Amino acid sequence: MDRMNRRSVIGMLATGFVAFLFSPSVADATSAPVIRAGDTCKKLGRRTTDGSKTFECTKTGAGLQWKRVKATTTQPTTSEVKVLDSSALVAGRSATAIVTSGGRNFAVVLTRTAGGVVAFNRSCTHQGSLVNQSSVNELTCPSHGAVFNASTGAVIEGPAARALTQYPATERGGSIYVTI
Ligand code: FES
Repeated sequence: MDRMNRRSVIGMLATGFVAFLFSPSVADATSAPVIRAGDTCKKLGRRTTDGSKTFECTKTGAGLQWKRVKATTTQPTTSEVKVLDSSALVAGRSATAIVTSGGRNFAVVLTRTAGGVVAFNRSCTHQGSLVNQSSVNELTCPSHGAVFNASTGAVIEGPAARALTQYPATERGGSIYVTI
């Protein structure tokens, strides 16, 4: 092999090696190691997700190993909560309350309409400030002035673009209940 040929062979090998180092498969392999069931893990009970698979570090006869587990999806819990006495909500008016459900607090606004009591989350759908009753059948956001219909939650005036989130509300035995 003459001098030129040797140089070009070395050049091709070097180029191929650099291309191999930066190829996507190698980059992926170095940045995101693949977990397989039965691989050794270090911390008992630790969970990790690899792609669509979830693994948990479990104790086996061979020591701590990754074991594939089914990912559990937790359904949001809903519950009916007493919010107000019926006498506290006059026809055509709105009242606010804090409802505790599933360990969380929700700011709620209720309105007595001709068709019964309706309840909405008070968070403005623009940027989340709490709306208040501003006039009969209107709720206004103090931050940027969005106005909502207190009976339907619909936007009357922007900048909010979506209606308030509604919750089921019922009334019985002199009490008003909201389900969140
Ligand atoms: S947060 Fe309510 S209008 Fe902007």
